Amino acid sequence: MSTITTAALDVRADFPGLVTSEGKPWHYLDTAATAQKPLPVIDAIVRAMGQDYATVHRGVYSRSAEMTLAYEAARRRVAQFMGGQEDEVVFVRGATEGLNLAAQTWGVQTLKPGDRVLLSLLEHHSNIVPWQLLRDRIGFEIDVCPLTADGHIDLDAAERMLTAQHRLVAFAHVSNVLGSILDVRRAADMAHRVGARLLIDGCQAVPRVKVDVAAFDCDFYAFSAHKLYGPTGIGALWVRRSILETMEPWQGGGSMIDRVTFEKTTYAPPPQRFEAGTPAIVEAIGLAAAVDYVEAIGMDRIHAHEVALVAKLRDELRRTNSVTLFGPEDSAGIVSFALEGVHPHDLGTILDEEGVAIRAGHHCAQPLMEHLNVPATARASFGIYSDESDIAALLRGIERTKRIFG
Ligand SMILES: Cc1ncc(COP(=O)(O)O)c(C=O)c1O
Repeated sequence: MSTITTAALDVRADFPGLVTSEGKPWHYLDTAATAQKPLPVIDAIVRAMGQDYATVHRGVYSRSAEMTLAYEAARRRVAQFMGGQEDEVVFVRGATEGLNLAAQTWGVQTLKPGDRVLLSLLEHHSNIVPWQLLRDRIGFEIDVCPLTADGHIDLDAAERMLTAQHRLVAFAHVSNVLGSILDVRRAADMAHRVGARLLIDGCQAVPRVKVDVAAFDCDFYAFSAHKLYGPTGIGALWVRRSILETMEPWQGGGSMIDRVTFEKTTYAPPPQRFEAGTPAIVEAIGLAAAVDYVEAIGMDRIHAHEVALVAKLRDELRRTNSVTLFGPEDSAGIVSFALEGVHPHDLGTILDEEGVAIRAGHHCAQPLMEHLNVPATARASFGIYSDESDIAALLRGIERTKRIFG
């Protein structure tokens, strides 16, 4: 038995999703896919969907004016949480849409044949495919930064690879497979030294580590609310103001215009210029409630809690015969592993019978799977509600799987 101990954050009672349909505890270890929702977020959504509901930005009646204030307050809340300014935060459907927005606006305006974009081997498909779609249209080159032996983006290698042709470096802040954490400030300094911009896919970082885009000095930062204990259908793309102001609209419609005539249309200033149509009003309010919830606990405490759980689980798995561990020791809340002779899907199915939910698959990171030389991994990912009972249940399930597979 591991002697590492962890202290629970004691928030489980806030999460109605953490019980099975039979009312038993559900050991949810798939928070990196999507987080369970706490009651204050659910309540905020129910209120916004019910007694407070109205449209924003257009109504002349008081309920709509109040909803507009709440929607814009949510933007302010998200900006504060990320260390940015409210007019630098564009609400999007999620990280995927945020990354596509950056590619389809800044990328289309900026990237030319002969330019280079540096990605890394551990990127989620959401931070690969939008750039490939553009490369195939424009004709620039994509370079791939390798990883260190323990699964960090190798910034020494990145430094050697960067040239004056590079216009963009686009890296994940925290890997969704390995949990490795990027030194964002160092990446920003390196990108800026060659005149490139730094875009950060912060999907897995925002729920796990303190984010401060001003201190990081990055240029773009995208995340999804549903991984931060908020609702699906909303996320944010933060863009440095001096860049955002130069970006042209990508979707046309209501709300993003200044004046429309058939001869010529002028556009609203950012961020409204990038939010065509009736926005995700209720979801924005839910996201703000999620930010309030995690900030009340404290991002430093959340990070320390998840790092302790990772240390415990890795220690236990190392004692289990026939487990291969991927990723660094100090991973932010995510542990990927393989059980010898058992496909991750079979492991996931048996664990499900034990009331344990893990993710099994390529995790939308097929180039990384190829690098690890596996078709898939099993991934256990922690959240603020995770505790040692989840680890114990996972280990029991692994032992049972080993017995079944002989
Ligand atoms: C690192 C990373 N980037 C991007 C995404 C895409 O997020 P979404 O599907 O919410 O747009 C994910 C989701 O798994 C992720 O883990």
